[in-house]
Amino acid sequence: MLFLETPTNPGLDVVDLSEAHAFAERNGLILNVDNCFATPYLQQPAKFGTQIITHSATKFIDGQGRVMGGVVCGTKELIAEVRKFCRSTGPSLSPFNAWVLSKSLETLAIRMDRHCLNAEKLAAQLEKNAQIQQVIYPFLPSHPNFQVAKKQMKKGGGLVAFEIKGGVEAGRKFLDSLQMLSLSANLGDTRSIATHPASTTHAKLTPEARAAASITEGLIRISVGLEDIDDILGDVLGALGNTDLS
Ligand SMILES: Cc1ncc(COP(=O)(O)O)c(C=O)c1O
Repeated sequence: MLFLETPTNPGLDVVDLSEAHAFAERNGLILNVDNCFATPYLQQPAKFGTQIITHSATKFIDGQGRVMGGVVCGTKELIAEVRKFCRSTGPSLSPFNAWVLSKSLETLAIRMDRHCLNAEKLAAQLEKNAQIQQVIYPFLPSHPNFQVAKKQMKKGGGLVAFEIKGGVEAGRKFLDSLQMLSLSANLGDTRSIATHPASTTHAKLTPEARAAASITEGLIRISVGLEDIDDILGDVLGALGNTDLS
């Protein structure tokens, strides 16, 4: 099996789904795409030949940080295998979580539109900021895979990653200066969240493995929420104003 995520967590690399499908076919592999960051609203890997699509429903599908859950979609034969495995070994959703998630799906499209709009505006502002070394957002023309993102995604998604000038120390000052955004490893919530992947979600990796996954020590990931964009910009740009180490 070839198992990949696109956009990736936390570096927001975009993998070409048509190419991944062609590679999997040539090598007799099942292609399994983690579609958690894009959601089914922004990207439908099945259109590009993907046989299994996996989601952490804990993120944008719930959208309000309430329950944990997951979804596996795919061809009939493969899902029959997944069902057999789940039935015998127990990784099943509780009925309550399933109900919460099915209600959440009713608002997925409008929530994602707002997450994306806020994220686009934040990414554009960050790109102009003198304290920022690099901004990564799939729908910014400066993203190395902008064309691929445009081809396979409806919008750029709700996550923005960036590197602050001054590395870890500047990153720490930035995070400590935030007033509204929460500091957490979660993403896809109504409320905006800032994460420092090198010390939290990806802390268990060796420094070499982090470098191979483009996770620099100063990388910050923002899960852009549904708040008023002026409040988000006010908090993020205000905190950046405190990061100047010179
Ligand atoms: C892209 C992606 N896939 C899967 C997961 C795992 O999610 P869960 O903890 O709901 O299994 C995460 C968690 O951050 C993620 O970011």
